[in-house]
Amino acid sequence: MQGDIEKVLITRQAIAQRIAELARDITRDLQKVESDRAPQITLIPILTGSLIFVADLIRELPLRLQVKLMSISSYPGAATSSRGAQVEAALTRIPASLVGQHILLVDDILDTGHTLRTAQALLAQRRPQSLRTCVLLRKNRPETRDVPVDYVAFEVPDEFVAGYGLDYDDYYRNLPEIVTLKSHVLKPDNDMGRNGA
Ligand code: IMP
Ligand code: MG
Repeated sequence: MQGDIEKVLITRQAIAQRIAELARDITRDLQKVESDRAPQITLIPILTGSLIFVADLIRELPLRLQVKLMSISSYPGAATSSRGAQVEAALTRIPASLVGQHILLVDDILDTGHTLRTAQALLAQRRPQSLRTCVLLRKNRPETRDVPVDYVAFEVPDEFVAGYGLDYDDYYRNLPEIVTLKSHVLKPDNDMGRNGA
């Protein structure tokens, strides 16, 4: 697995440091709106890519919090470009009403934005008191600027990245750093293209 790495883009130390900063921002923002009572928040990570990020993030948040999982997939199997977001309804265990709740949607990476737009629309229908979005990575692509996100840990080049929860063909999630993979590892991605169905 180590031999498949082309380049380490973000080290584990840099990730840990940045997550601590984000957690301080999230806590401060919540305290601003909930100054009169103990702030509570519900984190909704989008599986599977944000698994490791959310695990580290919640341990930096000194808040009363809940975690509800949501599953949306757009990169089936060995694809390296998005096929459009599909909500896997069976794995969406979000309460029908989020009235009165502060929600923080958490994803691993903002690429085309289909996944986050889908998730944001779905959650907004459930009328939370506030809905904020936090991503570990944002790719440097023009489309990503149109998707409203409140917290971004790192901006990355428009390349396929893996590690720290992000997969290629469901592998490499366990790499502690964010990396690019050698080109021979990535199979040619020849069907449909980035915004395919
Ligand atoms: P979007 O809907 O195109 O923004 O895609 C977002 C989802 O695709 C993310 O939640 C990731 O799971 C996956 N994804 C996007 N880019 C990458 C990448 O470079 N490496 C691994 N997964 C990615
Ligand atoms: Mg994902």
